[in-house]
Amino acid sequence: MVLAEIKEKIAALKEERKAVILAHNYQVAEVQELADHTGDSFELSRIAAESEAEVIVFCGVHFMAESAAILAPDKIVLLPEAVAGCPMADMVAPEELRQWKEKYPDAAVVVYINSSAAVKAESDICATSANAAAVVNSLHARRVIFAPDRNLAHFVSRHTDKEIIAWPGYCITHHRITPQDIERARRAHPGAPVIVHPECRPEVVEMADAVLGTGGMIRYVRETEATEIIVGTEAGMIYRLRKERPEIKFYVPGTGLVCPNMKYTTPEKVLSALEKMQHRVTVAPEIRERAAEALRRMLAVPSA
Ligand code: 13P
Ligand code: SF4
Repeated sequence: MVLAEIKEKIAALKEERKAVILAHNYQVAEVQELADHTGDSFELSRIAAESEAEVIVFCGVHFMAESAAILAPDKIVLLPEAVAGCPMADMVAPEELRQWKEKYPDAAVVVYINSSAAVKAESDICATSANAAAVVNSLHARRVIFAPDRNLAHFVSRHTDKEIIAWPGYCITHHRITPQDIERARRAHPGAPVIVHPECRPEVVEMADAVLGTGGMIRYVRETEATEIIVGTEAGMIYRLRKERPEIKFYVPGTGLVCPNMKYTTPEKVLSALEKMQHRVTVAPEIRERAAEALRRMLAVPSA
């Protein structure tokens, strides 16, 4: 089936099912193009919760669809590709986190949005790439377990005087960017500011002009006077940024900055999701309640 035909069928089914299509900023161009909204992981879950739609087709990875299901329990949330997961989110399991809680009973537990609902349910509060430091600084505890991203935990530790006990997880894609990649990119494009995601290694974060989640990168690009920018994050972001400012030249440092899980979703799979109402993502009520509470606490943090 050609793309135009797929798009036509999707549009008709969307209407019939009262569905909305959400796509993360790392999705392939064709999927971004057919989405009603593109955004970062948490923005999209909020849109899902506030939308009038009855069905949410979440083009992203499993934890994102789960966050939408936590915030919008009355809606049907579909993940077009069942196996699209986040390897970093899989680096922490609820049982392991419970062991850490026993080991550090005085520590508060902050869990990055890139985690399963069961892990969120074990936390005191959630955090995103945009608000992690504000969330940690809002807590009374002197020590904080931060899971699962050790790089984001390190970034937070530079913006707080609390002791951060970092879970050893990391993003296999962002971890690929090395200081040498940044140096090479700077040499090739002198004067271009470097913006990186806080999931990058501390040595890379140290070299950046700005450290931003994908939503923050879009806002930065909207406002910048730069004509060239080096962007240290997953390569799909470049398509999203070019749409904002087509006249700016964007460069990715290094090679292979692709999150394979983000690329599993295709227009064909979006169509199948709507035709077969698959793959439904649900969260058990007892987990959902506790995970929702951790997300609500995050939303109550000023500037978070
Ligand atoms: P954002 O929340 O910044 O969109 O990041 C999601 C993600 O998976 C980064 O790798
Ligand atoms: Fe997970 Fe990294 Fe992929 Fe984001 S880019 S979904 S953190 S593996």
